[in-house]
Amino acid sequence: MDIISVGVLTVSDRCSRGEAQDTSGANLREIVVASGVIEGEVKKYECVPDDLMVIKETLIRWCDEENLQLILTTGGTGFSPRDLTPEAVKEVIEREAPGLAICMITQSLKVTPLAMLSRPVCGIRGKSLIITLPGSQKGSEECLRFVAQSIHHAVDLIN
Ligand code: MTE
Repeated sequence: MDIISVGVLTVSDRCSRGEAQDTSGANLREIVVASGVIEGEVKKYECVPDDLMVIKETLIRWCDEENLQLILTTGGTGFSPRDLTPEAVKEVIEREAPGLAICMITQSLKVTPLAMLSRPVCGIRGKSLIITLPGSQKGSEECLRFVAQSIHHAVDLIN
């Protein structure tokens, strides 16, 4: 199995201002690097505010210039007015991958009814796969584990 290049993008106003610790992004990095859930190398890790343009610009740069094969976002998928990650991802992807989002929702609903409050959007831009995960450490890890088994095959198909 080839090692895939990964970007972890935490979307959080509070974390980007230094008012909260980015435990979710840090945990996702750990999972990618250490746990064997995904055979990946985290090439990019940033925390940005819940700002549509900033999220879009970062994703476009990571896809088109950094050529990351997998981008995991965490945060901003909920219902509050500043939760704009799905909107940003929709504007960046060329093809949607609804199966990944459906998988995360259906599996998550077995864990918590609050899963219906996440609006995941997944898709492909060029040779990059973008997956939106919820903002909590627990929710982001659960959702990544639900789709992890398909990620290497997905990346192979895209590339
Ligand atoms: N999905 C899983 N698997 N586990 C969780 O704990 N939390 C939910 C949901 N999805 C959760 C989950 C909650 S409480 C919210 S509000 C939404 O994700 C949106 O989270 P976000 O706005 O931080 O992205």
